[in-house]
Amino acid sequence: MRIFSLVIQKRSHLSLFINWLKNVGVPLLIVLLTISGLFLTEAIVSNIIEIKSSRYWFASELPRPEEVANWTESELSNKLFRLSRWDGFIGNSQFRRFVRDQIKPLDMMISGNNSGFFYFLEVGVGVGAFAREILAMYPRSTGYGIDMVPAAVDIARVVLPASRMTLAVADMRHIERKSESFDVIYVPGAICYLPTMDDVRAAVKEFIRLLKHGGGVCLSMIASDDSDMGSCKTRISKTFWTGEVANDLRVLRLEEMDSWRLPHSGGRYSVCLLRK
Ligand SMILES: C[S@@+](CC[C@H](N)C(=O)[O-])C[C@H]1O[C@@H](n2cnc3c(N)ncnc32)[C@H](O)[C@@H]1O
Repeated sequence: MRIFSLVIQKRSHLSLFINWLKNVGVPLLIVLLTISGLFLTEAIVSNIIEIKSSRYWFASELPRPEEVANWTESELSNKLFRLSRWDGFIGNSQFRRFVRDQIKPLDMMISGNNSGFFYFLEVGVGVGAFAREILAMYPRSTGYGIDMVPAAVDIARVVLPASRMTLAVADMRHIERKSESFDVIYVPGAICYLPTMDDVRAAVKEFIRLLKHGGGVCLSMIASDDSDMGSCKTRISKTFWTGEVANDLRVLRLEEMDSWRLPHSGGRYSVCLLRK
């Protein structure tokens, strides 16, 4: 009799549990799954948007490389920098001065050493506007340029002489070159498009690895703690250069870019550093 009532009791517990599952447990599980599904979808979608926007904002207005291949030298001088999104310049002479301003602190080093022969890396080479000026200014230089937008690199390939400039599609956080390959690294207007400070750290670590000891790196258009963001995605505090990377890099010059008279550079800064 006792066993019988125990069985009945257990059965009623079981049916209570099944009822609880039906009325509360399963709906609760569905709600939880739906909420985590929504979070997951949101994360995936925003990641796709982040990848797409950083990859293609620059490529959306680019002409076909065959078209650019037919441009005269003067057309290249006057149109290329606009494709690089340096829209604020009136003409090529202003762009050329802007290029010179960026590399000035390294000029003595590269012109003096090795009779002007040096090997540079341009990070975010785009369509090759900046590299074209460097190759013209330093006729004995050779370079390697990377950019994450394939359509831009295709244009750079028709603009820059293959005998002096090698190009590749790559992300600055991982550049497949041997350590200590380069005398100089230029990063004109590219680093602030990285999405977070951790990405900036990864990229700068890569620049340090790739630079020869005694070599130099110049970066520009950096948004600081108190400047406008513009099209930048990350602000880089000036103390990052004077503190966080100070074991490997020594600041040669850190300069506000206001005096460079570039309409969209207000509040931005540039920095050139020496690899210890
Ligand atoms: C303002 S444009 C400058 C182009 C070129 N340096 C010049 O001055 O003519 C910035 C370039 O950085 C590139 N870029 C942005 N994020 C990058 C990344 N993570 N890795 C490589 N290139 C990147 C963009 O695709 C774009 O071509």
